[in-house]
Amino acid sequence: MSSFRIKAIAKSVPQKVVTNDDLTKIMETSDEWIKRRTGIAQRHIATTESNTSMCVDVAKQLVNQAGIDVNQIDYIIVATMSGDYQTPSTAASVQGSIGASHAVAFDIDAACSGFVYGSSVMNTLLAGKKDSIGIVIGGEKLSRLVNWHDRGTAVLFGDGAAGILVQNDGSDSQILGENLSTFGEAGMSLTAGHHAGQNPFGENHDQDDQFLQMDGHAVYNFATKRVPESIEQAVKAAGIELSDIKYFVMHQANERIVKRVAKKLSLSMNKFPVNIHNYGNTAAASEPILLAELAEQGRLHRGDYLALTGFGGGLTVGTIVIKY
Ligand code: ACO
Repeated sequence: MSSFRIKAIAKSVPQKVVTNDDLTKIMETSDEWIKRRTGIAQRHIATTESNTSMCVDVAKQLVNQAGIDVNQIDYIIVATMSGDYQTPSTAASVQGSIGASHAVAFDIDAACSGFVYGSSVMNTLLAGKKDSIGIVIGGEKLSRLVNWHDRGTAVLFGDGAAGILVQNDGSDSQILGENLSTFGEAGMSLTAGHHAGQNPFGENHDQDDQFLQMDGHAVYNFATKRVPESIEQAVKAAGIELSDIKYFVMHQANERIVKRVAKKLSLSMNKFPVNIHNYGNTAAASEPILLAELAEQGRLHRGDYLALTGFGGGLTVGTIVIKY
């Protein structure tokens, strides 16, 4: 029997806050443009923190909150598109740093859908293994992928990490339904960290391009079409109604996208918590940061139905419906 019960939720964001006004000093933009087009007022940017250090901080908080020993952890998944190294994985570094010597650890890269994809994989890993424990973290240091001379993307992104500790305690899984979809044919609408892969044995005219490039309109249209579909299908798979969901914890890429999705589903924005004004788009960290804030604010209660949705690079989209 599958079992996925959330025992702890935690977040860790860099200390340094960069406001829209701060950005006007290094590029031609304005607080008014950024707020009106995206809803973003500020973002946290890592200056002393690494992606790994933020994920380690989250993992330690999760272990403390859950009151477990690190040796009880069986699996660690970090969802990221901006790991400090290509190898070792961020998850392996977290495993080593916290001394979770029995845990199997690996990263998942599904960009902004990574936390939802990672949670789905963790649900499968824990299935049938009573008392097994897993950690799923979304962690990003997107500031290292952003071209700080490109105002079209630089204003949108932020850094941070957050995650959950889950256990198979023998009861029913909290994940009631899910819908994950990948649209690889549209993948070039959002790219980052391209390595041309030169070697001495052939001619390769392809150029490296580490920076994040995005066709904003294409991703906007993708999100406003695919996210409502994904939510409807996951809610249907869960055997409940859209109106049963207390909160739609959606990837925070643009407040306009959240409003458009709420409108398409004929739902009140009261059901769509938004925190993009404080963090910008933190990719895989975005839904768990929002979830952690809801928990901190005492807005999550056992038995609440939640829909978590991510969308972005791949292109990918994914929703899990949880009975908290
Ligand atoms: N400041 C001021 N002006 C700007 C800025 C800026 N930072 N950036 C662009 N502009 C200008 C443009 O040059 C353009 O000027 P022009 O009309 O003279 O040509 C004008 O503003 C309008 O630009 P658009 O790109 O049309 O603006 P739009 O309203 O489409 O907003 C945005 C752009 C915010 C990127 C939007 O398209 C969007 O949110 N797309 C979705 C992005 C997304 O969801 N990504 C999620 C995945 S992220 C991941 O997976 C990592």
